[in-house]
Amino acid sequence: MKDKKIIIFDSTLRDGEQALQQSLSLNQKLQIALALENLGVDVIEAGFPVSSPGDFNSVQSIAKNVKNSIVCALSRVVDKDIDACYEALKVAQHFRIHTFIATSDLHMKDKLKKDFNEVLIMAQNAIKRARNYTDDVEFSCEDAGRTPIDNLCKIVEEAIKAGAKTINIPDTVGYTLPYEFGEIIKNLFNRVPNIDKAIISVHCHNDLGMATGNSLSAIMQGARQIECAMNGLGERAGNCALEEVVMAIKTRTQFLDGLYTDIIHENIAKTSKLVAAICNEPVPSHKAIVGSNAFSHSSGIHQDGVLKNRETYEIMTPQSIGINDNRMLMTARSGRHMIKICLDNLGYAANTYNLDDVYARFLKLADKKGQVYDYDLEALMFLSQDKEEQMGFVLENLNVISGAKGVIPTASVKMSIDGELKTESSTGNGPVEAVFNCITRLTQIECLLKNYNISAKGSGVDAQGQVDVDVEFKGRRFHGKGLSTDVIEASAEAFISVFNAIHRYLLIEDVKRNAG
Ligand code: KIV
Ligand code: ZN
Repeated sequence: MKDKKIIIFDSTLRDGEQALQQSLSLNQKLQIALALENLGVDVIEAGFPVSSPGDFNSVQSIAKNVKNSIVCALSRVVDKDIDACYEALKVAQHFRIHTFIATSDLHMKDKLKKDFNEVLIMAQNAIKRARNYTDDVEFSCEDAGRTPIDNLCKIVEEAIKAGAKTINIPDTVGYTLPYEFGEIIKNLFNRVPNIDKAIISVHCHNDLGMATGNSLSAIMQGARQIECAMNGLGERAGNCALEEVVMAIKTRTQFLDGLYTDIIHENIAKTSKLVAAICNEPVPSHKAIVGSNAFSHSSGIHQDGVLKNRETYEIMTPQSIGINDNRMLMTARSGRHMIKICLDNLGYAANTYNLDDVYARFLKLADKKGQVYDYDLEALMFLSQDKEEQMGFVLENLNVISGAKGVIPTASVKMSIDGELKTESSTGNGPVEAVFNCITRLTQIECLLKNYNISAKGSGVDAQGQVDVDVEFKGRRFHGKGLSTDVIEASAEAFISVFNAIHRYLLIEDVKRNAG
């Protein structure tokens, strides 16, 4: 009987990194490699050592520092590439040399200018050379998805005879469909006589959005290694996303005949965030598994269902990937039930307020504000309408000096504070911090900036910058948003909106104290 474990081979640092706008530093690659090791990845493809001295050094450093995962490096079927892999990897606890050549007619004729026999011999020689350095040799038939099946069977058989222990079948251009790709793997198992001497691996690109489906189809036909990348990074539309394929295997293990991976699911969310931040590749909010919306429920009907039984709209828990916070968004689409539960969680007994009244005011606020937070709801409960809408802090004027080579970023902010005009100046590590310091002094509210995010709304020179900030104040999270064509002004507005939320919260605390 075949082993049920699926080996997870991560190529974030090779296929993923080669597709980034700017390459990563050695230290950044090492941080990602250690996070992947922590995630329980079986094989980390660390880079392509012959491609540059920087890549060589990064692979070497990862090889030195990673202890539990196998560290792998890529080479063409060329002696100097294979030797460079060995030189970079030899310090590792466990290492693998991965060598590849294209096998489709199109690639052989137009790219390599070689015939199939020449390709076959180059592959055999490269595998044998790599086997002088290690038993753990992987061979990939690039563009296998478009390789005639007779040639594919032949080269797989010969590669195994030459000593490859893993044979990788890439759908390099993301062209195949799940049924078709599964049939390729099935054919290999039926037709290659020595197939049981190697692990069959797959490496699917996502050009038609099929990477995860194709990988799952392949393991149903006997493949036992999946090559993937965190957040689906990789050439063009990317590789099979690690988080998707791993959670699909976990969630549908019964359908998949008990197949499993050794990935520590609870580390998925934080690894995704780290990779997104280091690679400067934000994850879209609707991205499966790791998008910020992936576990959020917005519509009233969905929220009502989830509150009654979360399985109505959740096939896995956010906790299973390491997210602990509540993902119920309060928007104008939220129903009464949601608002009542939120008030329950805040500690308000149902007989202490009129739900119809709070809900009607909530809807008005949600129409104006978009997303409503729990502290906004408390403001509705405690503050009269004009108090609730009244802004404690308003930006009146902003002046910033910043520059390069020794210029100290300095800001001066004029604000109206409960109707009175006040001005402060401050320096900072950058203009945004200088503005934040001014506003902190003016409001006399000390909070911790936990998250600062800037995104473009629109394109071209008149695009607006939207700044979203999260701060922590007395153990609670507050959110602020600012929008302007000037990103420093958007930052100031975001800070002021979050300080206004805290100001309202302090007013509520006062009202509660006086009432008690
Ligand atoms: O997509 C591909 O074919 C590759 C190989 C080098 C495995 O990345
Ligand atoms: Zn690839």
